[in-house]
Amino acid sequence: MSAIDLFTPLELGAITLKNRMVMAPLTRNRASREGVPGALQVEYYRQRASAGLILSEATCIAPEAVGYPCTPGIWNDVQAEGWNAVTRAVQEAGGRIFCQLWHVGRISHPDLQPGGQRPVAPSAIAPAGAAFTYEGMKPFVTPRALEQTELPGIVRAYRAAAGHAQAAGFDGVEVHAANGYLLDEFLRDGTNQRSDAYGGSVEHRMRLLLEALEAVCGVWGVGRVGVRLSPIQPFNDMRDSDPQGTFSRVVERLNDFGLAYLHVTELGKDAPGAAGPFFDPLELRRLWKGVYMTNAGYDKARGNAVLAQGRADLVAYGAPFLANPDLPERFRRDAPLNTPDPDTFYGGGAQGYTDYPFLT
Ligand code: PHB
Repeated sequence: MSAIDLFTPLELGAITLKNRMVMAPLTRNRASREGVPGALQVEYYRQRASAGLILSEATCIAPEAVGYPCTPGIWNDVQAEGWNAVTRAVQEAGGRIFCQLWHVGRISHPDLQPGGQRPVAPSAIAPAGAAFTYEGMKPFVTPRALEQTELPGIVRAYRAAAGHAQAAGFDGVEVHAANGYLLDEFLRDGTNQRSDAYGGSVEHRMRLLLEALEAVCGVWGVGRVGVRLSPIQPFNDMRDSDPQGTFSRVVERLNDFGLAYLHVTELGKDAPGAAGPFFDPLELRRLWKGVYMTNAGYDKARGNAVLAQGRADLVAYGAPFLANPDLPERFRRDAPLNTPDPDTFYGGGAQGYTDYPFLT
């Protein structure tokens, strides 16, 4: 038997992936102001259907979940219809696509919120930095701490969004519990200073994630739901006093759900800005009983190595997929890669979005 590499198919819960290269979720800010994807998104995702699995850009579960201009939503029928054209295009091209379900929590601004209200969070702690608004960057405000009585409404929003994602024809969903957005804000103690059943111990801090997952799994069933964690990601002014202890406990509990996969952004301790308490992602890999997806700036050689060593089952590629719609074919042929253009990552039109060339 030959070693597992990026081109080895994988049974992922209920579906088969043709290779182990996942397109990571990438915010591109090109949906309409109403959060509806259009023809440009159809073309962008269709172009990338040779990925074993596409994870959609982070997609808002409710109007209150929005934190950036022109990010797509999945809380109403019009948005689901827009996404349906995307999922059909990807599936007709032989691809698979999950919808990443997103609530930004405190990483928003009254300008982007219904009625100009303050963004919500586990605790009233403002992040350092500034929000992207339609009028440019504005300093983050202090968020409003959610009342415990409001949390069932958040869970209902996850359930409703999961239903819309199903109507939109996605192959599954990924619950975004990483990168300093709402569920991650509950998980880590730098942002969660609650004293009720949703704060304090790790058991309490993970309660909202577990409730959201239960709701989403109730809609999708076993094997169609993944979850993304980022234990030491400092982005969005995040920290935890004990990432190893916190996330080991979270992963042990996630084993009970029959999830399609666990997706971990494994910023290493050498990564810029990742100084802090010691953290070994291999410990999470060891505790996790299902399919493990890693995401940490891999290239082809390092992706193949991590799979051959059994350190991961799937490798998520962000910028390389952004700039190379045919990334699997380029890796297969050891062809040169297009260079990503950071000036066109966020917002704009076709330039830097659907015009990266394919191999000839
Ligand atoms: C972003 O829009 O900058 C963004 C969105 C989702 C992430 C990370 C970054 O998980």
